[in-house]
Amino acid sequence: MSEEVIIVRGNNTLTGEVNASGAKNSALKLMAAALLANGTTKLHNVPVISDITIMGEVLKCLGARVTREGHTLSIDTVNVDKHETPYELVSKMRASISVLGPLIGRFGVARVAMPGGCQIGARKIDMHLVGLEALGVHFRVQHGFLEATTPNGLVGAHVVLDFPSVGATENLLMAAVVSEGHTVIENAAREPEIADLANMLNSMGARVTGAGSSIIEIEGVPLESLHACEHTTVGDRIEAGTFLAGGALVGQPLTVRGIDPGFLRMALMKLTAMGCEVETGDDWITVRRYRPLQATEIQTLPHPGFPTDLQAQFMLLCACAQGNSVVTENVFENRFMFAAELSRMGADITIDDHHALVRGVDHLQGAPVKSTDLRAGAALVLAGIVAEGETKVYRIEHIDRGYEDYVGKLQSLGADVRREMLDGPSL
Ligand code: UD1
Repeated sequence: MSEEVIIVRGNNTLTGEVNASGAKNSALKLMAAALLANGTTKLHNVPVISDITIMGEVLKCLGARVTREGHTLSIDTVNVDKHETPYELVSKMRASISVLGPLIGRFGVARVAMPGGCQIGARKIDMHLVGLEALGVHFRVQHGFLEATTPNGLVGAHVVLDFPSVGATENLLMAAVVSEGHTVIENAAREPEIADLANMLNSMGARVTGAGSSIIEIEGVPLESLHACEHTTVGDRIEAGTFLAGGALVGQPLTVRGIDPGFLRMALMKLTAMGCEVETGDDWITVRRYRPLQATEIQTLPHPGFPTDLQAQFMLLCACAQGNSVVTENVFENRFMFAAELSRMGADITIDDHHALVRGVDHLQGAPVKSTDLRAGAALVLAGIVAEGETKVYRIEHIDRGYEDYVGKLQSLGADVRREMLDGPSL
C-alpha cells in the first residue's frame, strides 16, 4: 500500500504574504444554485479542491456540463433532465445535499440519497426537511433515498429554524426563490456564504433581502424568469483564518490577502486577546506577535460567533500558549478528535464532554499523526512547523478537500513542508 503524506520539518518559519482562495463553502452552494437557471452560469474565484470536483460530478450526473478554466467554472444546465443524486456521491461529500432545494425548485421533485453519519457528529437534516415541508414539499424515505414531491406546488411560508443551520438556510432559500408568494426565514444562519448565495440568486433574477441577518425575506418569482449569471465567490475566511493562526503560532508577520476582515471579526479578537497584533485593510489582514501567546477561552457558535471550522487551529494556539485555556465546541458533537492527535505531539489536553481544557506546553514534538477532518489536518501541518524534528501527516485527502495547494502556499511562506508518497501500512 502506498499513501501520500505531508512531511514537515519544524523550522519555525512562516512569514510573508499569501492569497486566500475562494470560499469552499460558498462555491459549493453557488454551483448548486446554478441548477435553478437554464443556461450557462460562470463562477469566478472557485478554489481548486476535491470537494468542488465532487460537486461537479453531482451536477454532471444531473445532466449539466461543467468545465473549468483556472479558477472559473462554467456550468451549462440546458440539458439538466434528472433529479436524482446517487449515494456514491452524497457519501463522499455531505454538501451534495445542497442540490435538494434547487432540484425541488426546478422540477418540483427530487430524489437525493440520505447522507450517512459523519466523523464530526450525527449531522442531521431534520431542519432542512421541516423548512421545506412548510413550503409544501412532501418527503418520504425509500431504500435510503429521500424522495421529495410538491403535489400542490411550492408556496411561500414563514419558517422559524430551531437553530441557525447553514445548510438548512441555504436549501430553504434556494427553494423559496421560486415559491409562490412571500417567504420569511427566521433564525436564519448569518454566515457570509449565505449572503454570497443570496447575491448570486438576486443576480439571477430572484428577490431576496436580509441575507446575512437572522431574518431573510424572499419574494417568489416564476422559475422561467431566473437566468444564468456571472458571479465571483467571496474569499475563504476559514482558509484565511488558518494561515493567520499559523502566523500567530510562529510569531512572524504574516499577511493574508483576498479576504474581508469583517468575516473574521471574532477570530481576530481572539488573536488579539492571545497577545497578537492584528492590522486590517479593505481585503487584507496582517498578524504579528512580539510576546508569548497567552491562554484564552474560546466557544464555537454560529456566525458571527467563533467558527467551529477554526476550532482545531486555535486549539493548537492554546496548546502553545502560556496558561490554561478552555475551548468549548457548541456547534458539532464529537469535534475534538484533533486533540488526541495533537496530544501525540506533546500537547496537554483534557476533554470533558464538549469542553477541552488545554494546558499550554513549552514545545511540541514532531510525530506521525493523522488528519481526522480537513481542519484538523491543516492544523496538524501548522503544528509540525513549530514542533521539534519531523512530523508526518497521514490521510491528507482530507486537507485536499478544502485547501487549494496548501503545501505550495506554506512553502511560499518559508515553511519546510512537502508531499511525499510513502510505501507501507496506512494509519
Ligand atoms: C456548514 C459548513 C461547515 C461548517 C458548518 C457550521 C458547508 C459545506 N459546511 O455545514 O464547514 O462547520 O456549516 O458553520 O457549508 N443540524 C441539525 N439538523 C439539521 C441541520 C443541522 O441538527 O437539519 C445540526 C448539525 O448536526 C450541526 C449543527 O446543526 O450540529 C450545525 O449544522 P449546519 O449549520 O447545518 O452545518 P452544515 O451546513 O452541515
